[in-house]
Amino acid sequence: MKQARIILDPRSVVAPVRRRTFGSFVEHLGRCVYTGIFEPGHPAADEDGFRTDVLNLVRELGVSTIRYPGGNFVSSYRWEDGVGPVAERPTRLDLAWHSLETNAFGVDEFMRWVAKAGVEPIMAINLGTRGIEAALDLLEYTNHPSGTRLSDWRRANGSDQPYRIRMWCLGNEMDGPWQIGQKTATEYGRIAAQTASAMRRIDPDLQLIACGSSHSAMPTFGDWEREVLTQAYDQVDMISLHAYYQQHGDDLPSFLASAENMDHFIDSVVAIADSVRAVRRADKKIMVAFDEWNVWYQDAAPSVLPSGDDWPVAPRLLEDRYNVADAVVVGNLLISLLRHSDRVAAACQAQLVNVIAPIMTEPGGEAWRQTIFQPFARTAANARGVVLDSRATGDTVTTSRYGDVTAVDSVATWDASSRSAAVFLVNRSTSDDAEVSIEAGALGVDTVAECVTISGPDPYAKNALGEPDRAEPQPNKQVELTGGTVAVTLSPISWTMLRLGAAA
Ligand code: AHR
Repeated sequence: MKQARIILDPRSVVAPVRRRTFGSFVEHLGRCVYTGIFEPGHPAADEDGFRTDVLNLVRELGVSTIRYPGGNFVSSYRWEDGVGPVAERPTRLDLAWHSLETNAFGVDEFMRWVAKAGVEPIMAINLGTRGIEAALDLLEYTNHPSGTRLSDWRRANGSDQPYRIRMWCLGNEMDGPWQIGQKTATEYGRIAAQTASAMRRIDPDLQLIACGSSHSAMPTFGDWEREVLTQAYDQVDMISLHAYYQQHGDDLPSFLASAENMDHFIDSVVAIADSVRAVRRADKKIMVAFDEWNVWYQDAAPSVLPSGDDWPVAPRLLEDRYNVADAVVVGNLLISLLRHSDRVAAACQAQLVNVIAPIMTEPGGEAWRQTIFQPFARTAANARGVVLDSRATGDTVTTSRYGDVTAVDSVATWDASSRSAAVFLVNRSTSDDAEVSIEAGALGVDTVAECVTISGPDPYAKNALGEPDRAEPQPNKQVELTGGTVAVTLSPISWTMLRLGAAA
């Protein structure tokens, strides 16, 4: 049995819970758009061709923001191809994913879809094959009210009112050799700063995200962030982080501890941003947009791209099927993001539907939830108020990648208005239960309102269409609140959400 201890003190506040932590990502990749969110002719499609079964699951997931249209796709995308009469839109080669892009879905469809889903858009611009002019054109199209060629084109295309998109990504993974139009940090920092300052002439209130390194193992990681921020510090608000995790070989313990890497990654980028701030003697702090994160089995068959003369439309790509351990890791990554709410201003799980996604669909058929759906949905629904500085201490487990890490990892939120707390916990031991003692006396709570756990005898059990949900949260009865202290037992490889309240 592993032991852990958590102290909840309402005065130890990290930051408010940010709804933008619970963002997601829709890229023109595989079947995320086509037969994912958009499938005209599907029995559940609405008048716009949007799958209402998927829209319902998106609302249930509790997603706040959606990044669009890529990803690697955006680096050779011409946004004008995707607006105007559908019959006149060109079909193009998508070089990022070796697919055909029909452009039947574009900016206007996306903005109609986000309005129906009740989410905020994050628009990415192409700084691979294009630059300042195309970015300004898109911004004028989306955000300017009327009376110019591009704003009137939007109105003619059916959207009288400007979309007023606030958050914009200045390109995507521009350090990556796989990126169309890859750049050095100096080249990118300059184009990012110039594009940002030009965009602010149209709309000074934009929130702009510069590309950080594609991941923390890039050879230029660190130097890239420092150079890009040195050039663009005054023009941008956030820097992006991307990270994907998977089990390597049979090393389940290290995989379960993936959040250690996420913690370290965020802390490192914040340190670099703050070092640039110190040198510039700037007041402004650069925030983090963790705008791609998830479990992704990158070397597995679903991620093999078409090749040669094969340029399919909406092929099955990156359609990873997730297991219970993946769900526990996703829950732990959300714990890490919440714990960093003082600096993580936005985050996007990549992606939303079919492509490394919590929601899957069959063309013409049903939509269903993967195992990673529930930890996201339950965290988004229950994290309220402020994040408390409340990380678990206690017994450790040994991992080959991260050394000894605490068996239990946790974060808690406190909503003073409803006097309720939510504690999110994982037990990363592969063999032992964990007994957790949560000292909650300072909150004045006296009730366990809910305690649910995702685990199971087989960490590799997956969901499939028409089969039982392996990651459906089950009531955890091994919980007791006495004298302000909660004792809860967590089974091995599990994720738990505990909600505490005050009866009076
Ligand atoms: O999310 C899948 C891909 O991963 C994105 O297109 C890219 O930005 C990242 O490398």
